[in-house]
Amino acid sequence: SSLPTEEDWVGSNHLHLFQGFWIISTCMAGVLAFQKYFQARDTDIILATTPKAGTTWLKAILFSLLNRVHYPDLLKHPLLTSNPHVLVPFLETDLYIENQVPDLTSFVYPRLFSTHLSYNSLPTSAKASNCKIVYLCRNPKDTFVSLWHFTNKLKLRGTNSLEEAFDKFCRGVSLYGPYWDHVLSFWKESIENPQNILFLKYEKMKEQPTYELRKVAEFLGCPFTPEEEAKGVVNDILSLCSFDNLSTLEVNKSGKLSSGHPNEAFFRLGKVGDYTNYLTAEMVEKLDRITEEKFRETQLKF
Ligand code: A3P
Repeated sequence: SSLPTEEDWVGSNHLHLFQGFWIISTCMAGVLAFQKYFQARDTDIILATTPKAGTTWLKAILFSLLNRVHYPDLLKHPLLTSNPHVLVPFLETDLYIENQVPDLTSFVYPRLFSTHLSYNSLPTSAKASNCKIVYLCRNPKDTFVSLWHFTNKLKLRGTNSLEEAFDKFCRGVSLYGPYWDHVLSFWKESIENPQNILFLKYEKMKEQPTYELRKVAEFLGCPFTPEEEAKGVVNDILSLCSFDNLSTLEVNKSGKLSSGHPNEAFFRLGKVGDYTNYLTAEMVEKLDRITEEKFRETQLKF
């Protein structure tokens, strides 16, 4: 069902089917270099996501969580002056795309990186190491709507009508898609290897942010101390990283990333269920049916 059609290849950013997933052709060099040269350390932390799952949000949260002792003064926090994607770069499209063997010495322990690659496509060294992977996904309907806005805004592949993009998404032809295969790759691994892979959902983070943040902190081996709890550090991090805060910061309202994407493109609405404003009843039914079929063997529900 993922075979390319003529129009999947049209535009300046062709999608390339690589190891079962659709990757922008111009990113392939970075993907290959990352796979070949990345040397994982046991202490590394990798945030893995499907595009539009809330990567920007979780980058901000993980950065704040791991660096909380360095930045007790929230008024001087790096997130006030740097976009989360600058603080936590993508391995394949930021670090390894600029240089086949990038200099990672500026990344202090614990090194925090991110990726959109599926579990199977991660470098052997990452899979063989004891590094921790935090995986975030989001219900396919909101993921699709968010991705549609994003790709149109950036004109990644010309402008797609909602119907065209929906058809492709359902066929698995989307950025780092098929969406379901991506989610399943990490889901399976998180069941087999819960010490190293934590599986998160955007909706649960929205619903129970403090619970989820404490869970992430435990998983990464840096639980909040009673003193921190008493001081309200959990809520401080969540407020700092909230959509309302990050999206109104000057740094995120203007400027561009090295990839050329405007910073503001990563902050649209930040809500659960916006798909109801875009998808017809038939579309919802179709996507639900595909999701149910693909996830039948799992306990996965959105
Ligand atoms: P919407 O387009 O539905 O608004 P990613 O970071 O993986 O590219 O995902 C982007 C999505 O996450 C967008 O969803 C964006 O608005 C939302 N988002 C960005 N920052 C957020 C935050 N701090 N809290 C919640 N959602 C956020």
